Amino acid sequence: MGPAELLRKSLLTLADSGRVRDIVERAPVSRSVVKRYVPGAYAADVVTAVADLGANGRAATIDYLGEYTTDVEQAEATTQAYLDLLRLLADEGLTSEGRAEVSVKLSAIGQSLPADGPAIALENARTICSAALAAGTTVTLDMEDHTTTDATLEALQALRADFSFVGVAIQAYLHRTEGDCRDLATDGSRVRLCKGAYAEPESVAYQDADDVAKSYVRCLKVLLAGPGYPMIATHDPRLVEIAAALTRHHGRPTDSYEFQMLYGVRPEEQRRIADRGNQMRVYVPYGEEWYGYLMRRMAERPANAFLFARSLISR
Ligand code: FDA
Repeated sequence: MGPAELLRKSLLTLADSGRVRDIVERAPVSRSVVKRYVPGAYAADVVTAVADLGANGRAATIDYLGEYTTDVEQAEATTQAYLDLLRLLADEGLTSEGRAEVSVKLSAIGQSLPADGPAIALENARTICSAALAAGTTVTLDMEDHTTTDATLEALQALRADFSFVGVAIQAYLHRTEGDCRDLATDGSRVRLCKGAYAEPESVAYQDADDVAKSYVRCLKVLLAGPGYPMIATHDPRLVEIAAALTRHHGRPTDSYEFQMLYGVRPEEQRRIADRGNQMRVYVPYGEEWYGYLMRRMAERPANAFLFARSLISR
């Protein structure tokens, strides 16, 4: 394992550490570092960010941060935050024409609770989907570590029986994902293809960056050959270029797929893709629980980790 890979693994391990999280969250971290990736703690901050993105042709998918839900009350509070957000977005006219939808982590709404976690998460997800339907928008389930993949895909199936607009994220680094793409490339499905952001063992995931990129291309080919709506989530310039060529090869009209990137990552490229007439959706997280999210972003780009560490020391 090279030094960059070692650093990536260490940061992903820290992303799961409750003790380090407590220390970092209490430190008066330079807001500018967090703010690059998380526009704010409140729904009102998101409304401003979504309106700004919309001003230059970008749509949004919004994630209420929180992934360490340890009790039913917290799961319900997170669900309520989504309901309030969806009402606010609709009131501000931001849910029309797919301008803003929501992304949900099942673990944040109860999936990992010891008793009946999956059932609690499914019930909460249904409540969020009903609110999204009323607001005239859609929901995408984020994908978390590999121990949750089956449960998330089962929840997707159950939700889609009543809410056909529910989409899901899948991760090219997992060996299983090409097969999952075949199952998911059906009429009306919305599938977000990303590389994957968790520290996963060799037994389930490609470890080498080139192998992950190759798997990404194979998965994308399956999705683009099918009748569903692929959501191409990557900042990798090579993959963006290959995706553009593949969409042309498959004769896909620009409204039959979209590109997605994270808030604060390659914003000029986001604008360039939107300007050339493609749908570009930006993943916008908000809330106080930014620690796990931010650590995964640091692992993707170690240069940011040094910036972040400096901001912790030089307060
Ligand atoms: P890669 O990490 O190789 O980055 C390519 C280039 O992009 C870098 O060289 C750099 O220039 C730039 N870049 C990437 N990350 C950066 C950063 N943090 N800061 C600055 N520049 C950066 N994962 C998951 O497991 N479950 C999920 O549900 C989702 N959901 C999701 C939604 C959306 C819209 C996106 C874009 C991504 C996700 N991810 C995710 C995260 C994903 O799995 C992956 O970790 C990141 O997208 C980074 O992988 P790239 O494909 O961008 O390539």
